[in-house]
Amino acid sequence: MDWPRGFGGLCYGGDYNPEQWPEEVWKEDVELMRRAGVNLVSVGVFSWARLEPAPGAYDFGWLDRVLDLLHTGGIRVNLATPTASPPPWFGLAHPDARTVTPDGTRLTHGSRDTYCVHSPAYRAASVRIARALAERYRDHPAPAMWHVHNEYGTTCHCDHAATAFRTWLQARHGTLEALNDAWTTSFWSQHYSAWEQITTPRTTQYLPNPAQVLDFRRFVSDAMLDHFREQKAVLRELTPDLPITTNFVLGDWVPVNQRHWAAEVDLVAIDHYPSADPPAETAFAADLARGWASDPAHGSADAPAQGPATGKPWLLMEQAVVTYTGPRMLAKRPGEITRLSLSHIARGSRGAMFFQWRASRGGAELWHAGMVPHAGPDSRVFREICDLGALLPTLKDACAAPVEAGAAILWDVEANWALQAPGLPSTELNHTEAARQAHRVLYRHGVTADLVPPSADLSAYPLVLVPSLYLICDADAENLRRYVSGGGTLVVSYLSGVADEHARVRLGGYPGALRDLLGIRVEEFHPLPPEVTLTLSAPSPNGSGPRPAAPVPTEAETPTRSRPGAGTFASEQAETGTFWSEHVHLEGAEALAVYTGPHTLGTPLSGRPAITRHPYGSGTALYVSTRLTDDGYARLLGLEPAPVELVRRGDWLFAINHGDEEQQVAGLRLPPGGFAVRARG
Ligand code: GLA
Repeated sequence: MDWPRGFGGLCYGGDYNPEQWPEEVWKEDVELMRRAGVNLVSVGVFSWARLEPAPGAYDFGWLDRVLDLLHTGGIRVNLATPTASPPPWFGLAHPDARTVTPDGTRLTHGSRDTYCVHSPAYRAASVRIARALAERYRDHPAPAMWHVHNEYGTTCHCDHAATAFRTWLQARHGTLEALNDAWTTSFWSQHYSAWEQITTPRTTQYLPNPAQVLDFRRFVSDAMLDHFREQKAVLRELTPDLPITTNFVLGDWVPVNQRHWAAEVDLVAIDHYPSADPPAETAFAADLARGWASDPAHGSADAPAQGPATGKPWLLMEQAVVTYTGPRMLAKRPGEITRLSLSHIARGSRGAMFFQWRASRGGAELWHAGMVPHAGPDSRVFREICDLGALLPTLKDACAAPVEAGAAILWDVEANWALQAPGLPSTELNHTEAARQAHRVLYRHGVTADLVPPSADLSAYPLVLVPSLYLICDADAENLRRYVSGGGTLVVSYLSGVADEHARVRLGGYPGALRDLLGIRVEEFHPLPPEVTLTLSAPSPNGSGPRPAAPVPTEAETPTRSRPGAGTFASEQAETGTFWSEHVHLEGAEALAVYTGPHTLGTPLSGRPAITRHPYGSGTALYVSTRLTDDGYARLLGLEPAPVELVRRGDWLFAINHGDEEQQVAGLRLPPGGFAVRARG
């Protein structure tokens, strides 16, 4: 299957909402799109009320004209099903399809995403509108792919949800006895004696049951996936040649297991809105998307299997021409739109798309920026949009080969969910943040990382980082043992391997499932107050001195960078640990660093191992029991800073200078904010 239909090069465009504008604007839109080099727009994402103004009464006339106009202008369409925003009449006719919050409040229309994927009426209406669209446009030449729904994310706690949850639980646990055991319902008299007693984790008096909360998140993802699948089946039946996708959004609140879903979409699409550190966040999001798309179990739409970095295509479906930071929207600096788009593309995105084409003049998101700003095309932003549109067609050859990664970082959505449970030893524990740090460290040192699940085939990676992987099942722990015994270097950070798949603690010492692999036993956690910093020093006397482990692959093109190898702890260099520490016993491992400094005096930590190394089979497993600084982490991995972002794809090198100073790297001179995409020759 072509992806998207008829596309050889990169996609460029954004969400296009012509229903917000009088028809005379549409013509100008198409002219401006052509001027900007736009070749794909997402249409109809929130158009349900315009498409079906009354139950069963469709109005496709306006959309016919939009698609005809776009087609005449040579612009393809990513045609959306509008199910993320049911019209007011629908919610009024079917109150049971409106979202119920954990405290039992049933929401009212007036915003968007007010739906319940467990409601039969909503499910039926979603399939009906998807079918109506597919029947109408199955022979139209404009659509290049389908965009089902938008950013699946509304969690509902209504009675439909509770009933479906029970059915899901029966399939997962089999018997009530097994569920009671998995959920540890012996605690606080929560024992269930009938399935009907189980609810979704609604607002309750005090802390909810963490295993129930985790199962609920798994269930919601599966239920939403069913909703997606129902639409997909209809679209596939009527338009077998069109790829089908939906857009994933990133965030701890997101109830979607993107990796499971990636098996169901024809291409992985993400929306990405970085805030604090856009270049590093962009690289992380892009590598995450590539990881979701590249699971070998998914098969490959258009690329032969060539190791971990190939798989399904993926696309940056939405980004913004401004930066949303929470309290304020920041204008992007000149060239920043281009650099961040290029970073996504270097890391495998099949293009750069935006929310949205034209900034809205009213409605809830009237201040969300557009490729055509309120000021119109005579603007700095639109000029940069045109420049980017001219650049993308020149990148086709550079994007042909797979992205090359020098390391993997394990990221697992269930571990992330489990670590959001209330009642943990610190409210600030976060698997994704720990993964971001690991990724940032590699990124700042010119190492591209694949973000992969703990079940992935890791054998091709010289280095694998495991950042606070709180929850791990036995099979995945075995996968890590296999990787290290086969010669790999594994660097595990604090609070990993602690819980089983039911979020129950593995007994006998942390890090539970990984104890033998790491050759340690952690007796006790010592979370640190914000003001406390621990010193980490090489053990002495009689401690073993630094010994380099397997080296990270070298970058031939950056001879200035030396890589002594993961697992070097230079004795003259004291490191610092913050946030977290652990009381570690050596059970086969050696200490690379021990806790020292005034804050450890009088505590069991004083002089005890902080970083350990354990030979296992032909490989090495390191454990870091505290949060290192980024620089300390890099020193442990034996990395030297890379002044610019570097990504290699076969014979091509992408180099992006996000900084304010000129940089020379890999034989290139990059001015401030400059970039180069060049054949390595
Ligand atoms: C997301 C949504 C869009 C829009 C933007 C706002 O990406 O998919 O509909 O709300 O955020 O920037």
